[in-house]
Amino acid sequence: MSKKKQNKDILKFITCGSVDDGKSTLVGRMLYDADLLTKDQLETLVQVSKNSASINNPEKLDFSLLTDGLQAEHEQGITIDVSYRFFETLKRKFIIADCPGHIQYTRNMATAASNTEVAIILINAKNGLIAQTKRHFFINYLFGIKDFIVVINKMDLVDFDEKKFIRIQNDFLEFSKKKIKDKKLNFYFIPISAIKGNNIVNKSDKAPYYKGKALLNILEDMKIKSDKMEQSFAIGIKYVARPNSNFRGFKGKISSGKVEVNQKIRIFGKRTSSEIKEIFIDDKKVKSASSGDIVCLTLKDEVDISSGDFLTSFLSNLSNSNKFNADLIWLDHDELKKNKDYLVKFYNNEVSTTKIDPKFIYNINNLSKEKFNNFKLNTIGNFDIEINNKIPITNYDKNKELGSFILIDKISNFTVAAGMVKYSNLSTDSLPVSKNISYSNIDVTNFDRAKIKKQKPCCIWLTGLSGSGKSTIANMLDKALYQLGKHSFILDGDNVRHGINSDLGFSREDRHENIRRIGYTCKLMTDAGLIVISAFISPDREIRDFIKNKIFKNKNFVEVYLNTDIETCKKRDPKNLYKKALAGKIKNFTGIDAPYDSPENPEIILDTEKYSAKECVEKILDVVLKNDK
Ligand code: ADX
Repeated sequence: MSKKKQNKDILKFITCGSVDDGKSTLVGRMLYDADLLTKDQLETLVQVSKNSASINNPEKLDFSLLTDGLQAEHEQGITIDVSYRFFETLKRKFIIADCPGHIQYTRNMATAASNTEVAIILINAKNGLIAQTKRHFFINYLFGIKDFIVVINKMDLVDFDEKKFIRIQNDFLEFSKKKIKDKKLNFYFIPISAIKGNNIVNKSDKAPYYKGKALLNILEDMKIKSDKMEQSFAIGIKYVARPNSNFRGFKGKISSGKVEVNQKIRIFGKRTSSEIKEIFIDDKKVKSASSGDIVCLTLKDEVDISSGDFLTSFLSNLSNSNKFNADLIWLDHDELKKNKDYLVKFYNNEVSTTKIDPKFIYNINNLSKEKFNNFKLNTIGNFDIEINNKIPITNYDKNKELGSFILIDKISNFTVAAGMVKYSNLSTDSLPVSKNISYSNIDVTNFDRAKIKKQKPCCIWLTGLSGSGKSTIANMLDKALYQLGKHSFILDGDNVRHGINSDLGFSREDRHENIRRIGYTCKLMTDAGLIVISAFISPDREIRDFIKNKIFKNKNFVEVYLNTDIETCKKRDPKNLYKKALAGKIKNFTGIDAPYDSPENPEIILDTEKYSAKECVEKILDVVLKNDK
């Protein structure tokens, strides 16, 4: 096998639609036109298809026999009914997940969607958008799919009418945008005829208005979502190998990112760190390994690590959490019992629920949120879940493997639900307050103060690595607000550390205290009527969330994440600090040997490599001034 061939990636996609929409014909025709069916398969198809069918006459072949046969083969014991078909072109390997559209479709489709990256949604051009199309779209979206190929089939029956195609496309975009405000959603629309083979493998001249590629080319060329997902290194340790007293190896599967010998790593949640000494794959020493590899790692220091722990890079997205929010799909015939404790099985940890607090149930016909009554088979709902231990958790949309879990009934041992984490940390731990103090009354209210300034006070909290552009953007934003007649003020890490926080260094505790003081100062300033801009690395998600949720109570607080890649920050290095840190002259430098937890749900994410500082400021102003009205 050539090297190029070996390195081909795999795209997993799900096909959704009913037999009437031409689902099997679409898949069959794609394999036929791309010459991917074996001679045996073709001969069988000819035998069982209509009399006039022949190998060279695909329009008469009954492709449903291909996929139906597969379903029977793959019928699984636990009534989840998804079949997988593998195929490969010169550019890429593919796995198609297919599920029958019968009554259990919710969980079948959910299972298939959770294992795939792209959904093909079939629409029959004669029928246009129907309730089923919407349902399929919502279920796939809830289970993490962001890339949709909407295939408008049977275009031959409507003479490839451009107006019909455009109308269906617009209808789809209108309802999806109305229901889901997610900038990561990505759509392709293709007019096809599965039976005639138009726009499936080859572009057809029947629809000259369609400027895109044929379906197979789209599948071959599209960027896989996992490429865009969290790429920082994380491995859950499954097993500690100790064959003799000189060797201690930590085994597990890398869940995201890449690891190299000599790389600094963090033992997540334990406040210790070390460096990678050796990496083994199948007992062979290698220099680096990446996502999906099963490895055994040794470290340069003696550190206390056991199975269940995570080793991560310093830029990780995990939270150490015992309360999180998740969507659940119920898989059991017995309903959820709110007061019962279930076993929660994450990728690397098993814990027990201590509280399950239902928020709402999704109506999968229109994605509206309905009041919780009961939670039964095939229903999808949203819950706050408390567990008996803090464990490393991440959001499902950052990492499907680490952000998903199952609930198990402790008595029957049945898997009763599958879950996806939406917000990994809802922890509400407060900081202690001295005793014997109370609030004194002040007659002029915050509202009165804001009113004379003719503005709505708020805190604009910029967070990001050193060199990400916080000070530059803060300064320009402050100027822009000043020119608009707004009274703003900047609190900046470097400045504040010369004064009120000059007693603090860069240990985790000191940074925590630095940010805690700034959080309260920001609140005092907004109480005084100001728009305050805070520009601190503020690497610890827990304390940032404390400020947002506890000090500001989720009001008048705009978290802005300057999402600048560390390599860019290193290149910018305005204060020459990265150079020093990399040379070991500064310790605890964020991103090098101290952690940065990126925000989970910031109000604004700024890509400072893509947008100029001016454009970034405009984006912030848009949000802040909208609130100001
Ligand atoms: S924070 O981590 O506690 O939020 P803060 O924003 O106040 O940091 O200060 C960061 C600034 O301090 C950086 O922009 C940089 O100029 C300087 N600095 C000095 N030592 C370090 C270090 N070890 N890590 C990060 N920044 C440092």
